[in-house]
Amino acid sequence: MRERGEESGISVFESVWNNARIATSKDGDTNLVSIIEDGAVAVSNGRIAWVGCTKDLPTQKIDSGTVIHDCMGSLVTPGLVDCHTHLVFGGNRSREFELRLKGETYEQIARSGGGIASTMDSTRNTSSDVLEHQACRRILGMMREGVTTIEIKSGYGMDVNQELRLLEVIDRISKVMPVRIVRTLLGLHALPSEFSEDRDQYVKMVCDELLPIAVSRDLVDLVDVFCESIAFTPKECSRFFQKAESFGVPVRIHADQLSDGGGAVLAADHSALSADHLEYTSEDGVIAMARSGTAAVLLPGSFYYLKEKQMPPIDSFRKYGVPLVLATDANPGSSPIFSILSAMNMGCVLFDMTPDEAFVGVTRNAATALGLQRKVGTLEIGKQADLAVWDLEHPRELAYWIGVNPCREVIVGGKRIDWSVTNQRSLGGQKD
Ligand code: NIG
Ligand code: FE
Repeated sequence: MRERGEESGISVFESVWNNARIATSKDGDTNLVSIIEDGAVAVSNGRIAWVGCTKDLPTQKIDSGTVIHDCMGSLVTPGLVDCHTHLVFGGNRSREFELRLKGETYEQIARSGGGIASTMDSTRNTSSDVLEHQACRRILGMMREGVTTIEIKSGYGMDVNQELRLLEVIDRISKVMPVRIVRTLLGLHALPSEFSEDRDQYVKMVCDELLPIAVSRDLVDLVDVFCESIAFTPKECSRFFQKAESFGVPVRIHADQLSDGGGAVLAADHSALSADHLEYTSEDGVIAMARSGTAAVLLPGSFYYLKEKQMPPIDSFRKYGVPLVLATDANPGSSPIFSILSAMNMGCVLFDMTPDEAFVGVTRNAATALGLQRKVGTLEIGKQADLAVWDLEHPRELAYWIGVNPCREVIVGGKRIDWSVTNQRSLGGQKD
């Protein structure tokens, strides 16, 4: 990667976003966030062609065809990355929300047939068109908060045909909505009751039927599992990971959320891109993750909703240099939260992260958790021109305000999002 401000060799800029206060971060940069006052970002072919101070803009690369956008001193950041969501689902679990407020725990509800299994039932009973439409509406709201890359997991189908159907819905969404979508097969999420007497058969079906078909249909970018006492054992998860590795598909894991089940160590053993949740991760787990370069995706939304008490070992992650990431975990059970800005706030208030860590945690480090660090997450030459323009002075304000949306404009691949067209698309009005 060339230095900031250096030219990329592309002849003329298509567009320039100037008069901006630019906030970004860079690999290997010890100052987490760097700010360029009176800066500009130039775009060619949907990618960043130049970044620097407006006064240094190479004017020979600007001609009458270059579109100049005046940001009027606004803050410009990389588009935000929500790297952990389950936003394709049917129904809702507000009844369980009431039960939890009365003292029932997430685990108790899951063990008595509610939880993920109840969303499985309502998802199976919802048509693909409705699932797509509802998810697109959720995505529209997320994009309005500056999100330009979203990972979406399957996981509420829980049999071969239903999981394939969800992956197809996710794939269609990626073609309809002007946002980058990462498609994850959450193969081992919960054991459906029809397999309660034969766990092995279920794991075998996921490994030997579902995954190979999903891969052959090109529906999978990543795989994920829920490694927990109410879900799947490290051994079962490892079997699925081995199969994914045989297809060259990177792995991620829901680990150590409700107990220390050795999920972080398992993640490291499989060089997982990330391990997520991590409230109960031990120091050994942290050290293992540091060695394997596995990112720590923290999900304060589910911690908040489940009224958890055990904090993830933030200081240990810092001490051993494990990249800290934040995401919404948007799902109808443990985290009915579709606001990345709220997740940033919770990361600071509940997990003692700094606002700078929260910023990097939804930009550069979130891209790393998806294996997309070369493409998105920072404003550097050659990366996709995914930007968000904010009515803010400093990136720490992203984690500071709640209930106002300071996002003024969103740019994906160098194109400014037209909200009326995107709204139509999310309603199923226009698909090309
Ligand atoms: O990340 N932990 C497993 N999966 C989701 C919860 C899904 C649900 O409760 O529906 C999570 O918290
Ligand atoms: Fe999750």
